[in-house]
Amino acid sequence: MPQAVTAGPVTEFAEDVRTGLGKWGQKEVPFKYLYDAVGSALFEVISLLPEYGLTRAGERILRKYAEEITARILSPVIVAELGSGSGKKTRWILEAIARRQPTDYHPIEISHSALTMCRRELEHLDSVRVLGFEAGYLDGLRKVAARRQEGQHLLVLFLGSSIGNFDRKQGEQFLRRVRRVLRPGDAFLLATDLEKPVSQLLRAYDDPLGVTAAFNLNVLARINRELDANFDLSCFRHAARYNAQERRIEMHLRSTLAQKVTIRKAGLTVAIQEGETIWTESSHKYSPQEVIEMAGRAGFECVGQWFDYEWPFAQNLLIPA
Ligand code: AVI
Repeated sequence: MPQAVTAGPVTEFAEDVRTGLGKWGQKEVPFKYLYDAVGSALFEVISLLPEYGLTRAGERILRKYAEEITARILSPVIVAELGSGSGKKTRWILEAIARRQPTDYHPIEISHSALTMCRRELEHLDSVRVLGFEAGYLDGLRKVAARRQEGQHLLVLFLGSSIGNFDRKQGEQFLRRVRRVLRPGDAFLLATDLEKPVSQLLRAYDDPLGVTAAFNLNVLARINRELDANFDLSCFRHAARYNAQERRIEMHLRSTLAQKVTIRKAGLTVAIQEGETIWTESSHKYSPQEVIEMAGRAGFECVGQWFDYEWPFAQNLLIPA
């Protein structure tokens, strides 16, 4: 059985919830808390929905171009993946590299259950050794980088387009931090979801089966489970909005009535008005040129972009400039 997951100690979760729900103005819960065991499983279902083309687009690119992408990567190389999830999308890249050399693959995940799924998915690949790290992205990456031997290059994968879950400034800052861990000869394969018609995005983030709604509401259920809170889930509705100025989808949970909720382990009782929302996630959409420019400001050169046109999406290969 996968063990129950917390992203860091409960005290950090409690602290983040207290800050996010206790503040004036827009209430929020950081998106990383969407991914406990239930949230990770629901996200796997989302990625199968016909309306949510993002995961399949990323995979299509990797399936089609893995040889071409990996031909640009120096050997010998070890591979680290930031937020591997189930690892399904990674196999094409790993297989292409493992045809050239035995490969150590280090998935980095805060979700224990995702790490277990990933190990199961990839440990049977020929010439691939899976050595997972249950850690935050940058902590895990620093640990992997410290393990490499003289002459080994590092390929960092960030394949799910989770960069979009940071705002644009934080996304660039994140790239800069990854850059600091890398050396000349290393590479960073970065996935970005691209701009597309708003109606298509709204269907993807508010699907008719209600899986995304369940994924979103689960964060309140998680707060109930782990922080001894009394959210009544039937009094909240999932809402997906497009913010045209920021070019992002936002997920919110809208209260259907005026209510008070107590989160014991956060030492907080919060009043929520009818119609007020809790903001749980943003998903920024990029243009290809914008990715090149952002990478440049963060100290990378973009040496290749591969696209999916069915669901506009890009895999971008970056190297230290
Ligand atoms: C993980 N991340 C890239 C997804 C996204 O599209 O931003 C998470 C997600 N949220 C709702 N559906 C999927």
